[in-house]
Amino acid sequence: IPAHLAATPPMGWSSWNKFADRIDDKTVRAMADAMVSTGLRDAGYRYINIDDGWQGERDAQGVLHPNARFPDMKALADYVHARGLKIGIYSSQGPRTCAGYEGSYGHVQQDAQTFAAWGFDYLKYDLCSGEWFYPDADTVKRSYHEMGAALAATGRPIVFSLCEYGRFDVGTWGRDVGGQLWRTTGDITDDYATMARIGFDKNGDPAWAGPHGWNDPDMLEVGNGGMSPDEYRTHMALWAMSAAPLMMGHDLRESTGETLALLTNPRVIAIDRDSKGIQGKAVRKVGTMEVWARPLADGRVALALFNRGEAAASLAPSAQDAGLTTVSGAQDVWTGQASADFGATRTVPAHGVILLVVSGH
Ligand code: DGJ
Repeated sequence: IPAHLAATPPMGWSSWNKFADRIDDKTVRAMADAMVSTGLRDAGYRYINIDDGWQGERDAQGVLHPNARFPDMKALADYVHARGLKIGIYSSQGPRTCAGYEGSYGHVQQDAQTFAAWGFDYLKYDLCSGEWFYPDADTVKRSYHEMGAALAATGRPIVFSLCEYGRFDVGTWGRDVGGQLWRTTGDITDDYATMARIGFDKNGDPAWAGPHGWNDPDMLEVGNGGMSPDEYRTHMALWAMSAAPLMMGHDLRESTGETLALLTNPRVIAIDRDSKGIQGKAVRKVGTMEVWARPLADGRVALALFNRGEAAASLAPSAQDAGLTTVSGAQDVWTGQASADFGATRTVPAHGVILLVVSGH
């Protein structure tokens, strides 16, 4: 099991949230191009991941081939790699994927070899029709272990993303089967209620997270249009405070300046990929407000003041919220400006967040 993978949460893009299974070679190439031209690659986003819908049929030898929308997987991987990016693929342990395509059931080693030969760097492994074949915890674990071992046997470093929706306390065994990230929930959708339910309450046990093994509350919806600017800032802040993988899910070609500013904000990214990998959590709840803290490697503390309510609300942060005795300075993550008078009462818009990095002792 390659221990060097995912020292920090993986960052990239995945086809599912925007394109579902209507994804094709041309669009994937366009996303790789846009990743570079928008500056997202240089901000840290590296993976271009093809989700469900690329699969065709198996040949007489059982080798899985892509469908007509993907004429040449090796050439596609080369194209993505030539842009300084990495490329990911998707399968499921059952005979059929969630979208009804060919799964890896009975062909696990063969598919791992195929993905490695094509040059893939990341596999998301779903739990779909397999449920009917693997109803209990042990058999689910065994099916993920089988693919984890098959990937390791290819000799190619391939990030292994477990997508079984957080069942059976996945964070307690995800590392053991070779996984670097594991979903903690069902699917996100592009609305505040779903995003908030996942981000606040179903983001995985912080005890499970750390370098090389991350809770995955699902992919980002930033840029897809279903949330307000405050709500997307809350989405980004929750994921960063949770040390979550940052997999964008919009059409990168349609990124607005505002979307790019949020996704490439170097301070929010630095929180997400802090080298200590301590997952932040709620430390205080008052009315509709939640205060979250995340200790960082350099001794500073990321502090988020979230307002889950439908109306603006106020709160005065304290050194104690940050686990400190005295606060000597605070920086606003969105603007980069020093935030004077740390302990003053602050008003947070409905569904919004104030995100600070606090120093002190
Ligand atoms: C369920 C997963 O949770 C989604 O992210 C996506 O991969 C679909 N399956 C694909 O069918």
